[in-house]
Amino acid sequence: MILEGKTALISGGSRGIGRAIAELFYAEGANIYIMARNAEQLGKAAEEIDTKHEDRVHPIPCDVGSKTSVDEAFARIEADGGVIDVLVNCAGVNLRGPLEDMPLETWQKVLDINLTGTFMLTQKCFKMFRQKGAGKIVNIASLMSEIARPTISPYVASKGGVKMFTKAIAIEWAKYNIQANAVIPGYIATEMNTPLIQDPKFNQFIIDRTPAGRWGQPSEVAHAALFFASKGADFITGQLIAVDGGILAAL
Ligand SMILES: NC(=O)c1ccc[n+]([C@@H]2O[C@H](COP(=O)([O-])OP(=O)(O)OC[C@H]3O[C@@H](n4cnc5c(N)ncnc54)[C@H](OP(=O)(O)O)[C@@H]3O)[C@@H](O)[C@H]2O)c1
Repeated sequence: MILEGKTALISGGSRGIGRAIAELFYAEGANIYIMARNAEQLGKAAEEIDTKHEDRVHPIPCDVGSKTSVDEAFARIEADGGVIDVLVNCAGVNLRGPLEDMPLETWQKVLDINLTGTFMLTQKCFKMFRQKGAGKIVNIASLMSEIARPTISPYVASKGGVKMFTKAIAIEWAKYNIQANAVIPGYIATEMNTPLIQDPKFNQFIIDRTPAGRWGQPSEVAHAALFFASKGADFITGQLIAVDGGILAAL
């Protein structure tokens, strides 16, 4: 199994893409910590992911946009004896509104969770990576790391930041045998996109705009994350893989 004996931390692991990554990493033998704000949903997800009842999935409630919450969460992981080998920064939100009326609080919230949360978790894992002499970081970026859409300016800025932060980690920590890469999901059928899927016009727009002619599935993103987390990617760092059915390749 690809992640046998490894410990992975997956933020946003309670549903959607993060949950699919947790399920695949579990199937590949990893010991897993999952993070999200809603403790009840997180606990339920942990129970459901641990299909073999091996006590390999540990829910750690955490708001990655809050330093206090992140500090508390890592104190719990450390008290549990957890030493992370693979960090997947997947927690993310998208709050919409026209740029001209965008409240500062909305801008700040999206940046805090999507970008600063990624920074805080990355920094927290550094000590553990050094202890192990190796580390893998897989950031979940977005099509919006490369191209923009109107009314989601904080999201676009945050995901552009995630892309460049991935490269910054890669070049600064390559000497420590730490690799940082990012996955760019295209339009993936998750709860975040439920309103878009339910809007017949937008749904058709996505199908027409995606060369593959369909929405992607969370498990399809998970396989790219698994590749970056694997030993086979030990000499790959600072790279992005789009799992988008061809959107970024098309004019
Ligand atoms: N779906 C897509 O088409 C798509 C495309 C490109 C990129 N992405 C990115 O992929 C990631 C996952 O998206 P998704 O579609 O799977 O979204 P989702 O279904 O809404 O799941 C988001 C996950 O993140 C957690 N989360 C949100 N805010 C958090 C916070 N402050 N602290 C800790 N956990 C938090 C949520 O749990 P709680 O709400 O309980 O905290 C949940 O587990 C995001 O970074 C998103 O930007 C998604």
